[in-house]
Amino acid sequence: MNTPENSNTASPSDRAGVGVDWEARYRAGDTPWEKGAPHPAVVAWLRQNPLPGRVLVPGCGAGHDVREISRHPVSEAVGVDIAHSAITRARSYPAVGREIYVLGDFLTGDARGLGKFDALVEHTCFCAIYPTRRADYAREAAEALRSGGLLVGVFYGNPDNPEPDSPPFESPAEVVKEFFARDFEVIEETAPVPTYPGREGREYLMVLRRR
Ligand SMILES: C[S@@+](CC[C@H](N)C(=O)[O-])C[C@H]1O[C@@H](n2cnc3c(N)ncnc32)[C@H](O)[C@@H]1O
Repeated sequence: MNTPENSNTASPSDRAGVGVDWEARYRAGDTPWEKGAPHPAVVAWLRQNPLPGRVLVPGCGAGHDVREISRHPVSEAVGVDIAHSAITRARSYPAVGREIYVLGDFLTGDARGLGKFDALVEHTCFCAIYPTRRADYAREAAEALRSGGLLVGVFYGNPDNPEPDSPPFESPAEVVKEFFARDFEVIEETAPVPTYPGREGREYLMVLRRR
């Protein structure tokens, strides 16, 4: 965790004000979220609901979800992450389709130069940012999507985190709905969802449509 005391050694994560030095976590191998595979609920949802066009994945990490999306007939799958090491790792995998990875801070508008997207897939980015930045996430998601575009999110309702001041932060459905209410309508809500071992019963899937 970066504090004001050590900010002179700040990584790009810290300068962006996201509160966690994600680059340092990757470098230290302190990445408990890294499961080596796409989220099972994303895999299952995509099988039933092929996404068209361009798809954005904020906080893509090593890009497992991006590559899963890319197996479908999308025109492009774009992963954005603030940590250089995450992007390097994502790029080290063989391409499975038309996926690209971009280094940037999603919360401060770095995805805006990428053009409009038809869908955004959320998985452990919303719960990873400080709750004080959730409005930034919702604003940038709305900016990224064309009207009618879909936000398909696997949200961490109850991570049962013993350290409440560190991510993952709980993201109950009623709270998520509040943040997205201005620009999105909820069109699907599913729980429980298939997940990785150890996360059973803690997540839900919500699909929101950009107004
Ligand atoms: C908990 S990890 C999840 C990574 C990936 N979604 C996964 O499940 O493997 C959160 C990710 O979000 C990235 N991240 C955090 N804040 C970000 C921001 N403001 N913009 C872009 N990426 C960010 C981190 O670097 C990290 O890779």
